[in-house]
Order: sequence, then structure tokens, then C-alpha cells
Amino acid sequence: MTKQPSNQATQNPRIAKRLANIELSLIRQINALATPLSVNLGIGEPNVEPDETLRAFAVKAAATGSWHYTPNAGTLKLRTLIADGGRESRVGGRSLPTAGNQVSPTPDSRLPTPVEFDPKSEVCVTAGTEEALFSIMQAFVDPGDEVLVPNPGFLAYATLARIAGATPVTYEIDPPDWRVDADALLARITPKTKLIVVNSPSNPLGSVIDRETLQRIANAGPLVVSDEVYRAIWYETPPPSMLGMSGNVIVVGGMSKSHAMTGLRLGWILAAETLMKPIVTAHQYIATCASAFSQSLAESILSDDAWNRAWLERVRAQFRAQRESALFSIARELEVAIPAPAAAFYAFVPVPSYDTEMFARTLATDAAVLVIPGVAFGSMGEGFIRISYAASIDEIGTGVERIGRWLRGAAL
Ligand SMILES: Cc1ncc(COP(=O)(O)O)c(C=O)c1O
Repeated sequence: MTKQPSNQATQNPRIAKRLANIELSLIRQINALATPLSVNLGIGEPNVEPDETLRAFAVKAAATGSWHYTPNAGTLKLRTLIADGGRESRVGGRSLPTAGNQVSPTPDSRLPTPVEFDPKSEVCVTAGTEEALFSIMQAFVDPGDEVLVPNPGFLAYATLARIAGATPVTYEIDPPDWRVDADALLARITPKTKLIVVNSPSNPLGSVIDRETLQRIANAGPLVVSDEVYRAIWYETPPPSMLGMSGNVIVVGGMSKSHAMTGLRLGWILAAETLMKPIVTAHQYIATCASAFSQSLAESILSDDAWNRAWLERVRAQFRAQRESALFSIARELEVAIPAPAAAFYAFVPVPSYDTEMFARTLATDAAVLVIPGVAFGSMGEGFIRISYAASIDEIGTGVERIGRWLRGAAL
């Protein structure tokens, strides 16, 4: 094969200033160190296989679904299902009671009055939650603006703000219980604050923000983006949503984590019509529309309420068992007791290391176990590693044991 000819421009391309100092995330860099012998506890996607029904939905979507562009904001059928789901269990978290799970399926007086979203103008289907976040930043954030982001928090928030030319300003979340302090967050608001990003349940903390704190943030004034992509994965009680807390709130979610559909890129945005218009314009020039196949599949999933509820229960049960196994191994091998994560599938674990990036790289190469250094999620993450328990109980046991053995060896 002949190599592509190079010239001055290809040898020394001038990268756009907006990408200066932006690299592939540390998560991707650590995952790139995987070998066939590695145990991967760095992974941010569910270890859940599609069941027969989910596969049948996919076959139907491939056989009978459209291959054409859909409307930019998504098919009206899917938008309607998402708008309905915003009011109850389908895209979020209420569930049928089962043994050991006493959550009421009937209207719950602790929940706010359901909010109506108009599927025609207040819902947009996106190519994953990530594209939803990018579209929102492109629609509202200017150079010179400030965007409040959690520290530790999902690293894309600060990066997407920077790509839009803004300055990310962090609000700190403190160990050991990782509660968001509303006063401290609100004290960070300045006249330049354009957007506050909230993530509950949190990646990387697995923690949940209580309703009162969320409401105070919703009332603060600036636009709020509430990333609820992990909202269906909880252990004791469903996490509160920011849906309808104020006209300023934009809620994003998707099916990557709840339905193990990371590769199918299906997310969504719910927001008031005036906010949605510029978002859909940005989304049009980024993605045109989400995959028509993934939209057909999502339509089948969200239309079958009984199957979907049972599926979400099964996913939660699997992660609940893996969470127990992770907590047990962490306590035994690493000799730390951390608060049980309330949701998502991450444990954020303190380790005796002054440089956790180096520590995670060494674990990857010398101990054949992948974990994500806490500093990948911001300065408050230094001294911690993120252990994903989206792995089999065997892998969790072996992986954490390898970390423990390496630490004990290193300490000798
Ligand atoms: C907090 C958070 N938001 C958004 C995303 C992106 O998810 P999606 O696959 O829907 O783009 C992730 C993925 O890891 C995440 O952890």
C-alpha cells in the first residue's frame, strides 16, 4: 500500500486554538494500556448482555425500521415516549415493588407534580448524552463565560466548556460522603456564570444529590444542565430528577447505561421550548439526527413498559450484587471502608499514593489491572482511584486482590 503523500501542512498542521491543550481523556489513555491479561475495572459501561427480547427489538428495528434521516429532534414517536417517561418510570427510576424493594408503583406524594413536556418542541433525541452536552454548550456558552462543573466530576463537562471558549469553574465535592454543598456551589456564581452542570447520580462518585439541594440549584438563576444518564441505576431509592424544577433546567439522559447501549449512541434532552430551539439548531449541525436504527430500537424498548420495568430491575439487581462484592473486596484487600455508593456502578476509593495517575499507570503495566486515577475527574480526585464494578464478581475479586497485593508489595 502506498503511503499518503505528505507536505508542509500535513507534517505540521496548525490545530485549532479551541483544541489546544485538549487531549484524549485519561480514561481512554488508561484503557489503551489493556493487555489480554488485564482485569478491566476502568470501564464505564455496563457488563450487561442484551436478553432475547432486547435482541428481538434490535432485529425488528433492523428489518422494518427506516434507514432514512429522521427529523433533527428525533422521531415524534420516540420523543413522545421520552416525554411520557420523564413523568414516570420508563427513562428514570420508579419501579414495581419486589422482594427487598419497597418502592411504591403508585403516585408518590414525595415526588413533585409531574411536568408535561411537549414532544413536538421540548424533547430532542441525540447521538448519546455526550452529544446532548456538546449541543447545549454550543447553543448557550460563549468565550468569556463561566461554566460551573463538579470536582470530582465527569471530565467532559470542563472540556466541552473549554471547546466552547468558556472557563470551567469548579465546585468542590468533599469526601468521605461526597455531598454537594449548595451554599458553596452558589457562592461560585458570578455575573459571568452561564451554566451550572449537575450530575446526579455521579460519575465517578456513585453519589446522589438530594431533592432540596437540587431545587436550590434550580432556583439560583443561571441555566442548569442536569446530567441524569445514571438515573435508572440505583440501589435503595430512586434518585430525584431535576425535571420541572424550574424553567432554567435542561435535563439530559440516555440509554447507554440503563440498557447497555453505549455503542448505539442514543441520548436525549428535555427542556422548555425557548431553550430547546437553539439546542436543536446546534444538534442539527453536529449530528443531523440520532441513528434511525437506534431510535427504532428505543421506541420498542420504551413502548413495552412491562418488559422495560423488569429489565431495569434485573440490571439493578446485577449491579447490587457486584456492588456488594466490590465493597467486600475493597474492605478486605485495600483495608478501607467507603460509604456504599447509592447509584451508578463506581466506587471512589482512597489509596496511599501521592500521584494516582502514575499509580494507575503502574497498576496497568505491573499488576495487570485497570482503574481510573481520581485526578482524571479533577484535583479533588487526587488520592483516589475509580473502581468500576461493571465487571463480573470474579473479575472484581481478582482485580481488587491484585491492587491489594501490589500495594502490600510496594509498601515492603
Ligand atoms: C456522567 C456521564 N455523562 C454522560 C456520559 C456519556 O454517555 P453517552 O454514552 O450517553 O454519551 C457518561 C459516560 O460515561 C457519563 O459518565
